Amino acid sequence: MTPIAVAVSGRGSNLQALIDAIAVGRLDAEIVLVASSRPDAPAIERAKQAKIPTGVFTVTKETRAASQSAMGHAIRNAGARLLVLAGYDRYLADAFWDALGEIPVINIHPSLLPAFAGLNNMKVHEAVIASGATETGVTVHRAHRGKLDEGEIVVQRRAPVLPGDTPESLAARVLAVEHQVIVEAVQHLLSSAV
Ligand code: GRF
Repeated sequence: MTPIAVAVSGRGSNLQALIDAIAVGRLDAEIVLVASSRPDAPAIERAKQAKIPTGVFTVTKETRAASQSAMGHAIRNAGARLLVLAGYDRYLADAFWDALGEIPVINIHPSLLPAFAGLNNMKVHEAVIASGATETGVTVHRAHRGKLDEGEIVVQRRAPVLPGDTPESLAARVLAVEHQVIVEAVQHLLSSAV
């Protein structure tokens, strides 16, 4: 089982998909740390339920560098060989990357990148509908210092935009795809010896 860490800021449904896939043996990994940018993220409770160690590294403008540096060190000290950004909604400072070292990082984004990069959650789906696109999707990509929603694509999967979709109905369809894709992407990277 390869040790991995997951960084979160909110709901944690992608974290849950990883926890569930590990529980049923579909993903050969162990989550050694869930790191949150917010103390009140529901994702933390999901981690606790699954008996996964958690750390809160609150990010404000003033504390970003110190807090994210501590997060990077904690992830490294936990022995993680991969970091999954699963709804982590903060820009990652250089101090984070310095602390993390060579551990690879991936991010999940609810669009077919590079389309609709740089937007958060519901804003992505609003923009997709406003554009008149008939399909959208999910991208898991490598994340790198100084880049946002940019990096080598690990897995990408399409989802239809249906007539009458609202941002909410589209978000729900895309989220169901995310939960499959995040597991596939992590498994793919682990089996190619991250
Ligand atoms: C997901 O839509 C993910 O693609 C985006 O943030 C959302 C997080 O959802 N980066 P959850 O916290 O995993 O439920």
